[in-house]
Amino acid sequence: MSEYIDKLREHEFDGIHEFDNYLPRWWLWTFYLACIFSVVYWLYYHGTALGPSSTAHFDNEYEAHLALEAKTKPVTGAMLEEYAKLPKMLEAGKQIFETNCATCHKPDGSGLVGPNLTDKHWIHGPGAETIYKVVSEGGRPGQGMVAWKTLLSAQKRQQVVAYVLGAIKHTNRPGKAPEGTPEK
Ligand code: HEC
Repeated sequence: MSEYIDKLREHEFDGIHEFDNYLPRWWLWTFYLACIFSVVYWLYYHGTALGPSSTAHFDNEYEAHLALEAKTKPVTGAMLEEYAKLPKMLEAGKQIFETNCATCHKPDGSGLVGPNLTDKHWIHGPGAETIYKVVSEGGRPGQGMVAWKTLLSAQKRQQVVAYVLGAIKHTNRPGKAPEGTPEK
């Protein structure tokens, strides 16, 4: 262990000397391990597709957050309007709309059996909360719009309403003649 014996360097300044010692082994090992760790970390998260990327990680967390919010918080119009701005929500909503709603409202929402959802006339009302209520509880009896709450989870209903708000409402597509009352 002779290398650990303090060696004095030749120079001197104002009576101050300097040792020329080896770095302590424990220090060197933490340094080497940190280097190895950084390479492994980089390869896992960035260099290869093994680990989730930061965006994938964020998306997963965000989805979990939305799922929790959908379960625990009462649904508000403001919440739905926010969802209508999120690409992930719109994407999920589009799928649900095309599978469950397009048969009666057409894929672009311009109406067939169900009313045209792209115009400014509404049987029940244009508000996000009203739309969510009609989708969950159904329309007037005997008209064909069922209560989707028994068929679609709360999260799915929120996604499909986000899609109606963000990609269908006010797109003004030619289709079924306006029904109900015009928006003020
Ligand atoms: C079997 C046909 C049918 C299906 C499927 C259907 N709807 Fe409807 N929808 C209707 C009818 C009919 C009305 C009018 C209800 C009324 O007169 O009260 C309506 C009304 C609505 C309204 C209210 C429109 C207004 O003017 O106030 C919204 C919003 C709506 N549907 C969204 C959806 C969504 C979202 C889905 C899919 C989850 C869906 N509908 C599936 C037939 C359907």
